[in-house]
Amino acid sequence: MCGIVGYVGDGQASDILVRSLKRLEYRGYDSAGVATCYQNRLFVEKDSGKIEEINNKLGLDTLPGHVGVAHTRWATHGAPTKVNAHPHTDCTNTIAVVHNGVLENFMQLKKELTDLNHTFVSKTDTEVIPHLVEEGLRAGESVEQAFLKALRKLEGSYALAMISTSEPDKLYAARKEAPLIIGVGKGFNMVASDITALLDMTQEMVFLHDRDMAVISKDSYRIIKIDTGEGVERPVKTVAISVETAEKQGHPHFMLKEIYEQPQTLRDSLRLQQQYLDLLAELLDKGRVIFLVGAGTSYNACLAGSYQLSQLARLPSFPVIASEFIPNYGSSLGADTVVLAVSQSGETADVLTALDFARMRACTILGLTNTVGSTLTRVARAYILQNSGPEIGVAATKTFTSQVLVLAQTALRLARLRGKIAQFEMDEFKTELLKIPRIVEEVLMKTSVKVKELAKALMSKPFIFILGRGISTSTAYEGRLKIMELSYIPCIAYPAGESKHGPISVIEESVPVVFVVPPDEYRKLNIGSIMEMKARGAYAVVLGDEADSELMELADFYIGLPKTHPLLTPITYAVPFQLIAYHLAVMKGYDPDKPRNLAKSVTVL
Ligand code: F6R
Repeated sequence: MCGIVGYVGDGQASDILVRSLKRLEYRGYDSAGVATCYQNRLFVEKDSGKIEEINNKLGLDTLPGHVGVAHTRWATHGAPTKVNAHPHTDCTNTIAVVHNGVLENFMQLKKELTDLNHTFVSKTDTEVIPHLVEEGLRAGESVEQAFLKALRKLEGSYALAMISTSEPDKLYAARKEAPLIIGVGKGFNMVASDITALLDMTQEMVFLHDRDMAVISKDSYRIIKIDTGEGVERPVKTVAISVETAEKQGHPHFMLKEIYEQPQTLRDSLRLQQQYLDLLAELLDKGRVIFLVGAGTSYNACLAGSYQLSQLARLPSFPVIASEFIPNYGSSLGADTVVLAVSQSGETADVLTALDFARMRACTILGLTNTVGSTLTRVARAYILQNSGPEIGVAATKTFTSQVLVLAQTALRLARLRGKIAQFEMDEFKTELLKIPRIVEEVLMKTSVKVKELAKALMSKPFIFILGRGISTSTAYEGRLKIMELSYIPCIAYPAGESKHGPISVIEESVPVVFVVPPDEYRKLNIGSIMEMKARGAYAVVLGDEADSELMELADFYIGLPKTHPLLTPITYAVPFQLIAYHLAVMKGYDPDKPRNLAKSVTVL
């Protein structure tokens, strides 16, 4: 997501901050900015574009002063424009804030502050923070009190850094569900969302805990628990690692880092802007024919979404591979057609071509994307952001699980709107949605050894067969895509019921067949398929419930997974596939971050 840095010390803050920002470029960003404090004045420069270009144009690194904050933005609320770039300031232009995270209640806070005559200039959630602090200062509070009080009003995730002309020798920082580290130096202290931003300056670091706030000056710092206001000590650690290792947060590849980031990205994907979710549900409800359109992994998410829409909201839809949309359905589109396009990048040519065609025929275009300001966000009548942050590995991992989670929330909203399921069912599903980040954490913990063993067993196989039934068909397809694109082992994936209509003929002694068998209504039928394949000599790998002893017994290799709602299993069951694919690639000596012949965003037809 966004990168933040703060500095207070003897040096020129802006120069040091810009160098640190450049260390954060690898995370991906669309805009950048710096604010410093000098002689009781705030200096702020920011814009969209690359740091070097903005710096050449605006002289970010020439701002005066010994205290400052800086930011690289990956847009979540509001397009990637100059006005939405951080730092954000208050009405008096004396407080500057940079933020990484998503604030859930910013609309409500914005309304309250607007009623108190605060003026907002951006579309961001962050801008409420300097205004909340300003409100406290107006009431006679100290900066520290006002900051603490503001933090207690924020719902959602944040890593924050703030400066104020009222206390020009201090830097304020806080974190909740987003990392934040103090860099301890001689004659200076810093704060950053990422240790890479600090490594050039110091190796002595203090890792703030969740709901910690810090008051930092050049020679000292204090840490305070946000909830109780009491002071707390956190140990200083020496971090002696290379910038390259730090960028991957200790993981050997970005892909692995992104797989392990999923509990957090899923948490952020539960923090959707409710008014857009409502709008999406309303517009989907108005359609006579609904298409879910995507390519690659995003198509697999569409497939999962179509089961969710049908089973929760009783709304049938057509999941379509983007490049097949016009040939198959082009002649049947009309004003009563709704096309929900799913695209991480929002720039995939096959998707955009389908949308252009649909738009010309007066269809309603909706979007689900990870990229604010992408073409998809411009052509869609309404769109929703999945909040997964930039994905550097070419293979989609965290963005797939978030897409499925957002589609599940859309289906639930639609179910409520259409009055199609009982209140208790909705409540149950909502509870399961909220549990997903924790369950994925569990999956990562429980499967880490097994997936490696399995990758070893599969490594020399000439091909792999994957089967699922119901919504698990989408999991099987996504497993196939991950394994194939990273390990280059050909894979076949089928709905299990279809396998007997032809594909079963490829089965012979020790052919690996991976079955996706969550504890849903199809479990018994799946057991039949496993028997069928085993009878023909298949090596049966089963992904099933961790307590399912019958399946365990039947399988040649078993990966047990914690329970969730059947419609959410594409999220939890996709994770072991991601890990298997990753380990297969590494064991075979391939680079999992850059599979051959592939690009992150396919902008050609
Ligand atoms: C697979 C993968 C691709 C993309 C596809 C669509 O791991 O990353 O299959 O899913 O190229 O990209 P978006 O979602 O950007 O439209």
